[in-house]
Amino acid sequence: MDIRPYRSVLYIPGSKDRALEKARDLPVDAIIFDLEDAVTPDAKVEARSTLAQALAAGGFGERVKIIRINGLDTEWGAGDVAALRDAGADVFLLPKVNSADDVQALSDLLGNGTPIWAMMETPLGILNAAAIAAHPQLTGFVAGTNDLAKELNCRSRADRLPMQMALQTILMAARAYGVIAIDGVYNQFKDEIGLRAECEQGRDLGFDGKTLIHPAQVDVTNEVFAPSEAEIDLARRQIAAYEEVQASGQGVAVVDGKIVENLHVETAKKILAMASAIAAL
Ligand code: COA
Ligand code: MG
Repeated sequence: MDIRPYRSVLYIPGSKDRALEKARDLPVDAIIFDLEDAVTPDAKVEARSTLAQALAAGGFGERVKIIRINGLDTEWGAGDVAALRDAGADVFLLPKVNSADDVQALSDLLGNGTPIWAMMETPLGILNAAAIAAHPQLTGFVAGTNDLAKELNCRSRADRLPMQMALQTILMAARAYGVIAIDGVYNQFKDEIGLRAECEQGRDLGFDGKTLIHPAQVDVTNEVFAPSEAEIDLARRQIAAYEEVQASGQGVAVVDGKIVENLHVETAKKILAMASAIAAL
C-alpha cells in the first residue's frame, strides 16, 4: 500500500535563514517554503535565492518539500517559477486558485510535470473545487482558512461553523479525485489546547494533516493525525476476526459489539499501513 503521512505541514518564510536552518531538525512530514504571504514585498526577490541555496544545501531528509510561489497574477509569480523550477522541490503550491485554468497556467510555466498543490481559499475556488481537483497534475489541496474567513466575512469561532461548508467541499472534491487534503493553520500558536481541539476537528472531518506556522505546533499535530495505539489494536483485531469468519465461509465478523465487513477491513489495513509508514520515519 503506497501511503505517506502528511500530518504536519510547516510553513517556513522562504526569506528567513534561521527558520530554514531550524526546519532541518523538526519532525514534520512536509515543509511549505513560502514566498507568498510570509515574505514582505521588499524581500520577495531576495527570498528566491535564499530558498534556492537552502534547497541546494539539502538536509531536509524525507520531508516533502513544497514551494509556495506568489500568485501568477502578481508581479512575482512567474519569476518565482523561473528561479525555482529546477531547485529540487517535490511540489509547487499555488495560492488563491480559482479554477482549473489557474492550475494549467502554472503547469505550462513549470513545463516539467512537477506535482501542483492548490491553496483553497477563495469563494470561487471552493465552488470550482471538483474541477480543480480533476486537473491531472493536481495532487494536493491546502485549506487557506485565513483568506477564506476574510473573503467570507465570517467570524472566527472555535467550532469553525462558518467554515464547514468550505472545508467539507474541499474534502469532498479531494476524495472524489484522490487528492491529499491539508487543513488550515491555527493562528494562536501558543495555545496548545485550542490547537489540539482544532487538529481533532480537522482529523475527524477527514483531513490528512494540518498546516502549521510555528515549531511549537508540531508535536500535538503529529500525535493527533497519527493512528492511536487503540486504533491500531482495533484494526489488528478486526482484520484477524474477519479472516477467521471468512475461513468459515461468512462475510461479517463482530468486534467489540460492532460489525466488521470487508470495507472496515480496508480501513483497518490503511490504518496499519499509515502506522508503519510513520514508524519508518
Ligand atoms: N519554521 C521554522 N522555524 C520557525 C518558524 C517556522 N515557521 N517559526 C519560528 N521558528 C523558529 C524561530 O526561528 C526560532 O528559532 P531559534 O530559537 O532557533 O532562533 C524559534 O522557532 C522560536 O521562534 P519564536 O521566537 O517563538 O517565534 P518568532 O517570534 O520568531 O516567530 C512567527 C513567530 C509567527 C512570526 C513565525 O513563527 C512565523 O513567521 N511563522 C510562519 C508564518 C507563515 O509562514 N505565514 C504564512 C502562512 S499562514
Ligand atoms: Mg492565503
